[in-house]
Amino acid sequence: MVSEKPFSQACENNKQPILECIRDAFTAPGTILEIGTGTGQHAVHFAAAMPYLTWQPSDRPAASQLCLGWIEEAALPNILPPVELDVSSASWPVDHIDGAYSANTAHIMAWEEVEAMFAGLGNRLATGGLFCLYGPFSYSGAYTSDSNRQFDHYLRGKAQHMGIRDLDDLLALAERVRFGLENDYAMPANNRLLVWRKL
Ligand SMILES: C[S@@+](CC[C@H](N)C(=O)[O-])C[C@H]1O[C@@H](n2cnc3c(N)ncnc32)[C@H](O)[C@@H]1O
Repeated sequence: MVSEKPFSQACENNKQPILECIRDAFTAPGTILEIGTGTGQHAVHFAAAMPYLTWQPSDRPAASQLCLGWIEEAALPNILPPVELDVSSASWPVDHIDGAYSANTAHIMAWEEVEAMFAGLGNRLATGGLFCLYGPFSYSGAYTSDSNRQFDHYLRGKAQHMGIRDLDDLLALAERVRFGLENDYAMPANNRLLVWRKL
């Protein structure tokens, strides 16, 4: 039986612009851990375009199998079966990774989970490895657009722990766990792609 394919229009819109940036980051063969895979649209698009990579989808236990429909349909040899990963869990299902990718997760996670994501990656990413983090961010407390301001208010009204993260806070966190910001790409729809390197 083929699994259902959940669909995100945002993923369809942003997958190609994101690919054009991350293919400059992930240039060497290796395993890329995706955190918070969601529908799986990014996973299949990126794995198809970068066949030298092995793509490891993951998500919280309740969502980890959501991506199966897209993955089964694509039938790519370089996508591993999705694994359950809640970043706040003490044990992760992967010990060593060459790179990491996550989209639209930092504003959904509680700040403690964002900290856990960086710390967990810091313990598993090879020195020199890259972590590409896509989403909306603010800069020194300033929103980059009215739509991001509205989105932030919407998130915080929906659940106190959610909200658009500020680059200054991410930089302070990254310094503690030895990540350096290597690139900050402007993306369509007032999003950014932050490329962090494990130092
Ligand atoms: C807005 S969705 C983004 C999904 C997909 N990456 C995309 O861009 O469409 C946020 C994702 O973050 C995941 N997530 C939230 N908290 C998490 C946590 N603590 N650990 C791992 N994933 C988490 C959710 O399960 C969900 O798949």
